Amino acid sequence: MHTHLEYYRAHAISPVHQDISNLSRHFARRGALYRLLGLLPSAFEDRNVLEVAPGGGHNSLYVASLKPHTYTLVEPNETARGVIARLYSDPGFAHTKPEIVPLMLQAYDPATAFDVVICESWLGNSSEEIALLAKLGGFVRLGGALVVTAQSPLGLMPNLIRKSLGLRLVAGETDFDRRRDLLVEAYGPHLATMKAMSRPHGDWVLDNPLNPAYCGIALSMMDVLDTLGAEFAVLSSAPRFADEWRWYKSLEVSPDDNAQFRDAYNRNLHNFVDHLAAPWERDPALNVASEALARTLVEAVRRHERGDVHDVAEVLAAYDAVIASLADLDQGTLDGLHEARRLLADPKTTIQQVAESSDYGRLFGRELQYFSLTRERPAAG
Ligand SMILES: C[S@@+](CC[C@H](N)C(=O)[O-])C[C@H]1O[C@@H](n2cnc3c(N)ncnc32)[C@H](O)[C@@H]1O
Repeated sequence: MHTHLEYYRAHAISPVHQDISNLSRHFARRGALYRLLGLLPSAFEDRNVLEVAPGGGHNSLYVASLKPHTYTLVEPNETARGVIARLYSDPGFAHTKPEIVPLMLQAYDPATAFDVVICESWLGNSSEEIALLAKLGGFVRLGGALVVTAQSPLGLMPNLIRKSLGLRLVAGETDFDRRRDLLVEAYGPHLATMKAMSRPHGDWVLDNPLNPAYCGIALSMMDVLDTLGAEFAVLSSAPRFADEWRWYKSLEVSPDDNAQFRDAYNRNLHNFVDHLAAPWERDPALNVASEALARTLVEAVRRHERGDVHDVAEVLAAYDAVIASLADLDQGTLDGLHEARRLLADPKTTIQQVAESSDYGRLFGRELQYFSLTRERPAAG
């Protein structure tokens, strides 16, 4: 069971709820995200918008409230569609009612292209998913926008350790709900350090340390550009780190400009490790080397989870190599990384010790990068 969908269906879950008890705050969060991505409300109003993999649709409510001309949600998980149906049964604000398509992206072939296509927090870096990303890009009309998410392996580091450590903490427990509850006990205090978090802790546990598809999510922004960069130009990102000091008259908005973004990405990669660290620029060659080592860590954690290896020696060795390559990071970040290592290396580590860890407890990566791109050339073929 290695895909999100297989896992969600096996347990009849859709662990992506958002706190929408205060709808105007939820809309303010979503509006701020899309503004950062260069997409003002007018990018959605009266447009044809497609969202693939909306989960329970909490985030879709904001787009629906902007009254697109059409809004299509492609969601194959029946549990998620049940949540969508409940949310839209009486949302209490003017909106465009979405058309729900109960299909996998693999089986979805719309007759016309869309002004905006959104796919958040799903596609990973397997060859099948890279092909699906290319398919998704094919749905965007010329001059239209694509919003996708990416996850840098360096940004995943703190949670990769939470996964390996979590697997050990619940190793003797087979009951699914009990496993979730134990890890909420271990990681709830960590999550509570992020005051702006809007997802229930139980959902986070189900979708991160307990999700068997987690190690497949490391689709990086560079993977996205390698797949779509010939036809798409970067519009913006969240976090936003790329600057642009060239004279606008010297620019041609074309995919060639993505080189500028790639440079900025490589100078900033290490800033993904710790969401609290102040950003600075680092030698891109060092960052690219660290990112490659972090990819090895992803694979080591995946092998641990699948039971290919039964202890954490390989994970620790891969983790040590990444940390050694990041020795010039802030002391606070390094303290957290080292505390995580001590907890993982000791087989007697308890849930309480993990819950009470402070340097590691506050360490989360800037693990999810939102990415907007515009179609500058027609789809090949
Ligand atoms: C982690 S959730 C993300 C949900 C939502 N976009 C969010 O950001 O909260 C991943 C979503 O991808 C959907 N999904 C998985 N496989 C899919 C497929 N083959 N085609 C379309 N959606 C899929 C799942 O059902 C789930 O709703």
